[in-house]
Amino acid sequence: MRLSISLGFLLVAAQGIASVVATKKNIIWDGRPSIRAKPSDFDDDKKSLYNTGWNKGINQTWSDIVSFPLTLGSLNDVPLKHKPFEVSINDNSIFMGQQWGFRRSELMPNVNNASDATVQDTTTIHLSFKADPRKPLNYTHLYDIIFVETSTYDAHVWSIKTGLAYDGSSPPKKKQFLRLYGYKDWSRPDGMDLLFETPFDGKSWHNFAVTTSWGKKAGEGTIEAKYSKGYWPLKKVVKKTANNADRGGQYHIGVFKHPTGDTSDVANKGYQAKGINEGLIFGGVFIEKNKK
Ligand SMILES: *[C@@H]1O[C@H](CO)[C@@H](O)[C@H](O)[C@H]1NC(C)=O
Ligand SMILES: *[C@@H]1O[C@H](CO)[C@@H](O)[C@H](O)[C@H]1NC(C)=O
Ligand SMILES: *[C@@H]1O[C@H](CO)[C@@H](O)[C@H](O)[C@H]1NC(C)=O
Repeated sequence: MRLSISLGFLLVAAQGIASVVATKKNIIWDGRPSIRAKPSDFDDDKKSLYNTGWNKGINQTWSDIVSFPLTLGSLNDVPLKHKPFEVSINDNSIFMGQQWGFRRSELMPNVNNASDATVQDTTTIHLSFKADPRKPLNYTHLYDIIFVETSTYDAHVWSIKTGLAYDGSSPPKKKQFLRLYGYKDWSRPDGMDLLFETPFDGKSWHNFAVTTSWGKKAGEGTIEAKYSKGYWPLKKVVKKTANNADRGGQYHIGVFKHPTGDTSDVANKGYQAKGINEGLIFGGVFIEKNKK
């Protein structure tokens, strides 16, 4: 008992220190729900920190999808101010009522119209996430946890994925891994470059800070990234690397489950098990503008 109380205290202290660090930075969008937030706030344009329209099942509301599990905040949540939230998918998570190959629930920052300040100059998105043992993912499938889709909707700028890739590029024994991919060459059919991978354990927070220099023309963009587990400080894991980013884009944060089986047309075909209830818990989501 005493051990768990003092451990809890240490974690809260660690969070406190981290949050002081975070407030010094130049936050241009803050996606950390208040400790008083309700799931229905995510349906309300005046209250939601996220886009209330996209990206979810056609017959779902965000209050069907978002919940607030009882769990200690992440490194970048301020104790007694912010709380973690969970994003879930189920059989109704059919985007636009059309994409039967996918199950999708992804939040986008409410300011993020693909050409706003969060996708110009150099910005860093911070986010932490962890698995929910009550709503496990099926790592035989491929998932996106966060990705940036270009303003032209035809490519990704970067993404963090888990699970088995379609093409076998992630070995089965490493299916429960997190992988950060950049996209250096959008013309290549498999245009992704694996920049960083780490085991995705079922218990800890996994903290990322991904910095994008958006550039104005092709060839000017870069990506770099920091990572830590639990309450450890972030460490650089990806040095500044060329990355296509000049079309801006939108951040998608949540659970995007790809099909298995026939992957000739992943949006519409392939296999998805019925009766699923899967989720990921998010915390410490915000975007800062970097100094030049
Ligand atoms: C959405 O609801 C309508 C009306 O009940 C139904 O016809 C349709 O099949 C549903 N679509 C999905 C993807 O659940
Ligand atoms: C996107 O948002 C920015 C900042 O609010 C605004 O200046 C711009 O006009 C918007 N662009 C579109 C296409 O709505
Ligand atoms: C996980 O996904 C695979 C591939 O789609 C499927 O065969 C299996 O039944 C799923 N497992 C569970 C527990 O749903």
